[in-house]
Amino acid sequence: MSELRHFLDIDQLDAGTLRDILDRGLSLKKSWMDGGQERPFDGRTLVMILEKPSTRTRVSFQVGMQQLGGMVVVMSEHESQLGRGETLADTAQVLSRYADAIMIRTNNPQKLQDLATSATVPVINGLTDNSHPCQIMADIITFEEHRGSITDRVVTWSGDGNNVAQSWIHAAVKLGFTLRLACPDPLEPSQDILDWAVAEGGDIVLTDSPEEGVSKADLVVTDTWVSMGDTDADMRRELLLPFQVNADLMALANPDALFMHCLPAHRGEEVTDDVMDGPQSVVWDEAENRLHAQKGILSWCLE
Ligand code: CP
Ligand code: NVA
Repeated sequence: MSELRHFLDIDQLDAGTLRDILDRGLSLKKSWMDGGQERPFDGRTLVMILEKPSTRTRVSFQVGMQQLGGMVVVMSEHESQLGRGETLADTAQVLSRYADAIMIRTNNPQKLQDLATSATVPVINGLTDNSHPCQIMADIITFEEHRGSITDRVVTWSGDGNNVAQSWIHAAVKLGFTLRLACPDPLEPSQDILDWAVAEGGDIVLTDSPEEGVSKADLVVTDTWVSMGDTDADMRRELLLPFQVNADLMALANPDALFMHCLPAHRGEEVTDDVMDGPQSVVWDEAENRLHAQKGILSWCLE
């Protein structure tokens, strides 16, 4: 059993560890906002392997590392020997001799596992086709800053049961809140993850009615209908149109419900402008908190 503090998926960490990471993020946020000069990552290096595009994840990890004294190297598949067939296992061994942690954004979750198995430094999941745990850590921080503890609250996902939705399932089980997933039948989250959530006693409700899902929710969340790598855009847009988060749908949630979106948003598809830019939307705070959540994750991984 590895002693390394990998941050691979929320379901692999206990609630106490997740709370520790969230608290570290919040504490580092407060300190940075107060003008703190702490440099806990002085002399430490994070390598980021990006096999897919990224704005928020890439920049927040880079800036977060640098604000706390560390350095970052970004590698894309095509600009490195990975693109010419060097295995991730061999790459992990080499990078572990140079760096203190490795973040990877990739399509195949098996590649994340391969990297974590071969690396001798902590590995962080910066998104796979199955999950996006760093995003959900920022989302939890954002909800709790605005509304207090998320435990026992009702979160509703309306849209594609994608990687971000699947990390929400992990978080609901671990942190003890209700998660309603309003998804069209063909785009529900993976049955394995749903079965895991049931076995763990999670309060997860699956519905094909967005109206039923959103009723009296404390937080409404959605994401793009067409994730990176999806090739069936037309089918998705047709199936997901009834799951659009618009003012009519938000009106069914609690009056003080928040709206979140991991971004990038496709305005007019999964969310309308009046919701994105409306008073219940906290999407910019959510994006900002990626920076502080990454610091919390790095702090835990590098300790
Ligand atoms: N939310 C998120 O992960 O954004 P990026 O794809 O820009 O990193
Ligand atoms: N579900 C989206 C999230 C982007 C941050 C995707 O995988 O493209």
